[in-house]
Amino acid sequence: MKILIDSANLEKINHIVKYFPIDGITTNPSILCKENTEPYELLEKLKQIKDLLFVQAISKDFDGMVEEAKRITDKLGDVVIKIPVTDEGLRAIKHLSAQGYHTCGTAIYTEEQAFMAALAGAEYVAPYVNRIEKFYGDGIGTVKNIQEIYKNNNLKTKILAASFKRNDQVMALAKAGVDAATIPADLLINFIHNKDVDEAVDAFVNDFYKLVGPNSTM
Ligand code: E4P
Repeated sequence: MKILIDSANLEKINHIVKYFPIDGITTNPSILCKENTEPYELLEKLKQIKDLLFVQAISKDFDGMVEEAKRITDKLGDVVIKIPVTDEGLRAIKHLSAQGYHTCGTAIYTEEQAFMAALAGAEYVAPYVNRIEKFYGDGIGTVKNIQEIYKNNNLKTKILAASFKRNDQVMALAKAGVDAATIPADLLINFIHNKDVDEAVDAFVNDFYKLVGPNSTM
């Protein structure tokens, strides 16, 4: 499973990429809004940090989405254009994918949306695990079903699971071998913070100091 950061916060992203094996960065309009800065300036910086960058179109109609995809690509180069899987969005995915754009069907709450987006040629789909759990009940099950639908229909669209609130949601999908997960910065940082691990490391160091003297190393 590839790991992406679902954030546009430069400070947190720079911290995470220093320590974690990260494949890319995903954004959406709400994520950009939190940073309260000119979006393209920020997106250019994010693109320099990780080449695999996802940027969402805002328009709700086909023409607007297509126009935005062109503008985003002109300004930022090769990025993945996120398009909500509505009827207009599906039409835009079909058109843009045929034109060679990288597309991600987003705001996916149902298996039907994921199925249609893949048939339309989306390179990725982003099912919203926690929101599905909140509104319908089984976020993990929905993503696993999408995985099975793709496998059984020989669809090559990659699943980028999104909208996580807990580590166990991510790890259940890692166990299932889902292609990718985009994880909020704070959740990702907490993947490694564990006081029992810190205590174990301190105990090893102290025992070694007892053996050969303080501040020694191997
Ligand atoms: C990513 O593609 C989605 O936009 C994002 O994960 C949604 O997350 P949220 O449900 O926490 O807003």
